[in-house]
Amino acid sequence: MQRLDVKPDEYSLSILLGVCDNGILGCKEGKQMHGYILRNMFNGDPFLDTAIVDMYLSCGQLAYAWCVFDKLGDKSSVVVWNVMIGGFCEKGLWECSLELYSLAKNESVKFLSTSFSTALSACGSSEDASFGMQVHCDVIKMGFQSNPYVYTSLLTMYAKCKLVEDAEGIFYQILDKEIEVWNAMISAYVNNGCAYDALEIYNQMRVNAIPSDAFTILNIFSSTSMIGLHDFGSTMEERDVIAFGSVISGFCRNSKFEEALGFFRAMEADGVKPDSDVMVSVISACSGLENVDSGSQIHGFVIKNGFQLDLFVASSLIDMYSKCGFLDSAEKVFSGMQHKSLVTWNSMISCYCRNGLPEHSIKLFPQILQQGFHPDSVSITSVLGAISSVAALIQGKIVHGYLTRLEIRCDIQVENALIDMYIKCGFLKYARYIFQNMFPKDLVTWNSMIAGYGSHGECLKAMRLFDEMKSSGIRPDDVTFLCLLSSCNHSGLIEAGQNLFQSMKTEYGIEPKMEHYVSMVDLLGRAGHLDEAYEFVRSMPVEPDRSIWLSLLCACRAHRNVELGELAAQNLLKLEPSTGSNYVHLLNLYGEAELWDKAADLRASMKDKGLKKYPGCSWIEVKNRVDVFLSGDSSSPRTTDIYETLNSLRRNMSKKVDNHVSVD
Ligand SMILES: *[C@@H]1O[C@H](CO)[C@@H](O)[C@H](O)[C@H]1NC(C)=O
Ligand SMILES: *[C@@H]1O[C@H](CO)[C@@H](O)[C@H](O)[C@H]1NC(C)=O
Ligand SMILES: *[C@@H]1O[C@H](CO)[C@@H](O)[C@H](O)[C@H]1NC(C)=O
Repeated sequence: MQRLDVKPDEYSLSILLGVCDNGILGCKEGKQMHGYILRNMFNGDPFLDTAIVDMYLSCGQLAYAWCVFDKLGDKSSVVVWNVMIGGFCEKGLWECSLELYSLAKNESVKFLSTSFSTALSACGSSEDASFGMQVHCDVIKMGFQSNPYVYTSLLTMYAKCKLVEDAEGIFYQILDKEIEVWNAMISAYVNNGCAYDALEIYNQMRVNAIPSDAFTILNIFSSTSMIGLHDFGSTMEERDVIAFGSVISGFCRNSKFEEALGFFRAMEADGVKPDSDVMVSVISACSGLENVDSGSQIHGFVIKNGFQLDLFVASSLIDMYSKCGFLDSAEKVFSGMQHKSLVTWNSMISCYCRNGLPEHSIKLFPQILQQGFHPDSVSITSVLGAISSVAALIQGKIVHGYLTRLEIRCDIQVENALIDMYIKCGFLKYARYIFQNMFPKDLVTWNSMIAGYGSHGECLKAMRLFDEMKSSGIRPDDVTFLCLLSSCNHSGLIEAGQNLFQSMKTEYGIEPKMEHYVSMVDLLGRAGHLDEAYEFVRSMPVEPDRSIWLSLLCACRAHRNVELGELAAQNLLKLEPSTGSNYVHLLNLYGEAELWDKAADLRASMKDKGLKKYPGCSWIEVKNRVDVFLSGDSSSPRTTDIYETLNSLRRNMSKKVDNHVSVD
């Protein structure tokens, strides 16, 4: 707007102020806007002034908020007072909040119900019962005695001040009690240790045919466990399954899976019959815990109670088995389903991919179409993940084609998956094309593209992209730095790597993880800066792990530094004394330095320990046939063919490059 010279008005400014401190705009921007408002003579508008006060309060800049508030010419509006009373209360400055309440009263401000409820909440939190009673008087004097909102706040205030009888008094004065009032009273009893009274109120609630909600159930459970009365709930009615369900799914949403399962067991014990929504939540709790034992118990329950035909229940069973690594069980559930939905197909596709069978995911994808379903963005993202992991470019292009032809909604996950797929398949050009035409880009998008350039040896482009990312306002994370460091490593850019490593800590406050350290050791070691690499390892604030010492050992081997290599090997063998391949690196170092005695000693000690050198292994899949190759092994039935082809290739290559490159 400013660039186009469109003048913002009070309304646009107050909207902007309202979104400061939401993660996009911060207090800095808030202050800048305040400056703009002062410079452009907007001040004096009560609406805007309130927005400024509110902005400072939510940014935690209470002194600024007070200054602006204090200078207001006209303080007759209750809104700005409410903002002040509420802001100070929220930051835990209850005394200030109550003082503001008194000031407002002296200025004869016309209060609203929120003014009382905020002040009462400050009284409750600071357990200031006498101030609370004053507010109670004000409530009556100003005619709010029949406002249920204010009365519930009064009740809660008395309960927090441990005046349960006063809370009760309020409760019985309210004639038309909504669920909130019942809940407030039950929780007042629970929090004051009066479990029986809580249950009594709950009984009254049932007599009055008030349906319970999630809060009610939670409080009742606290009180029944308080008095060890687990079967109290057996008087519950059918509809309580909704309340139970909302508690269980609430726990799942907050990753409290144990609690969710505990609730489910209590529900079962109380004879409340679950519905399919509850079953989906419970199964997802088992996947969250990756606990296949509980999961298969629940599966048994599902079959006994006839839920196995429910598509959502079956899909979550597949997800559960898949996350726990029980592919067979997942397949059994899948093939046992007479009617499948897109959700089930998607679950199965991601199940194969997650369990190391990406080819199966790829094969399943066309079947979705054959069954008459339209793949959605979830199907596409999963199958692209599978395709990336085996670098199957043609399949990837086919899926990309589906995506375009079927006009499937292309969300940011799909586009990220496409970028990743093209990068993994070596098609940087396509990845870049999608990247450039994509809006908005998220952190994953930038990280993938940076990693893409890095792994294709285009370190400078990766760095340039990093700058672009920063100027587009996206904050890098530890993955970004790992991509950058590894791209410096691939290109051997030592200084750039060191600078990045520094700025990661000092400028961005990101603590390096082991992978970052390994990258740095690799970068220094490969370039032959062995002493520097060792110094770096010694200065690490965490215990170096095997990969650090292994990297140092390999670097020493490449640069023939026996002394440091032995030291690295000692540390490595201390961590992993029985891994044969660790000895082999040291053995090779001795061999290459022609230290035959040492090599012979080491070989002997390996033999004593019963350690073997495992051969390197590689395989290739051609036309559904897998050929495995082991180093030093010539047992493949097609050895002759293979070597003939290799030799021919070798000859042709030497011809092509005019002997400029020696082919080994
Ligand atoms: C409000 O006014 C009364 C009487 O005028 C005075 O005693 C009291 O100190 C004032 N309270 C505040 C917070 O200013
Ligand atoms: C560093 O680069 C080399 C050469 O490209 C690579 O083999 C090695 O795995 C890289 N190290 C790390 C930690 O990425
Ligand atoms: C090498 O080149 C010859 C002649 O151009 C050709 O017949 C042969 O197939 C090539 N070898 C391979 C392995 O491509």
